[in-house]
Amino acid sequence: MDEAPAQPAHIAALALAGLRARPKTLPAQLFYDEAGCALFYRITELPEYYLTRTERAMLPAVAAEVAALLPGPAALVEYGASEETKAGFLLDRDRAGAPAFAAYVPIDIAAPALAALRARLARSRPGLAVHPVAADFQHHVALPGAVAGLARLGFFPGSTIGNLDPPQARAFLGTARAALGDTALMLVGVDLRKDPALLLAAYDDSAGVTAAFNRNLLARLNREAGADFDPAAFDHRAVWNAAESRIEMHLVSRRAQSARLAGVVLRFEAGETIHTENSYKHTIEGFAALARDAGWRAARVWTDPAGLYSMHLLAG
Ligand code: AVJ
Repeated sequence: MDEAPAQPAHIAALALAGLRARPKTLPAQLFYDEAGCALFYRITELPEYYLTRTERAMLPAVAAEVAALLPGPAALVEYGASEETKAGFLLDRDRAGAPAFAAYVPIDIAAPALAALRARLARSRPGLAVHPVAADFQHHVALPGAVAGLARLGFFPGSTIGNLDPPQARAFLGTARAALGDTALMLVGVDLRKDPALLLAAYDDSAGVTAAFNRNLLARLNREAGADFDPAAFDHRAVWNAAESRIEMHLVSRRAQSARLAGVVLRFEAGETIHTENSYKHTIEGFAALARDAGWRAARVWTDPAGLYSMHLLAG
């Protein structure tokens, strides 16, 4: 693998920068330690969280159409790929009587997850060349030289792009296009704007799993950065911000309290919030315009029958 992942001192510094800002924030990428990944997996199975299940239902048909559009044997380049379930729908496809994909390039910040993924694929898909890259996909990631001769399909499923604000999303799409080349295709899963009641339920579920996911940020800082937060002294809050077209998650201090992190005393007033995540919701036209601004052509779009979710195929 090509690069070192983020480390504990870095985690404390990231958290401290956000918690010293006003209003206080914590970066959403800190959600995904082992406990956070397990909680997120439980979120994907909740009745209220329609995103994962809807995308999975769309993927077989979308993958078949996309594979048929590839100009030749291809490399699948997945951004934020800690496991291969979604990629599998594409990797299963044939094109002109041969596997559509000769290579898979999973890009993820979590090197251990990539190593496990590579080991699984060596057993389950021995004919596939797997070239993991441990990197933050928001930075430019050069493709491994071994895929130079192949057509490319970028893949960014799960509406992970919703964590990026529009300028960041444009920057990401432009950077991906530069890395993939101007004959590439790119398939992006994008959650759609809808009735705020449905969105709020998806981000504040009745079983409290999303609340636990949110509070795990503080528990993680206790485990990995020597902090002493009382996670139970913070409430989970999901807010629909219509002006920004995003769901926001916050942790709300239930009382006046303080906590220590890396030797710094942090004070919280009763009701003060830590803004922990943005999840942007796009319109189909709005996302296509954003992709065009980043240099792509919006080639095709699919939605589920209820119009909850979209998958966009972009062409160089
Ligand atoms: C993994 C970023 C797509 O925004 O829906 C789920 C993360 N946060 N519930 C999302 C998340 C709260 C999720 N993404």
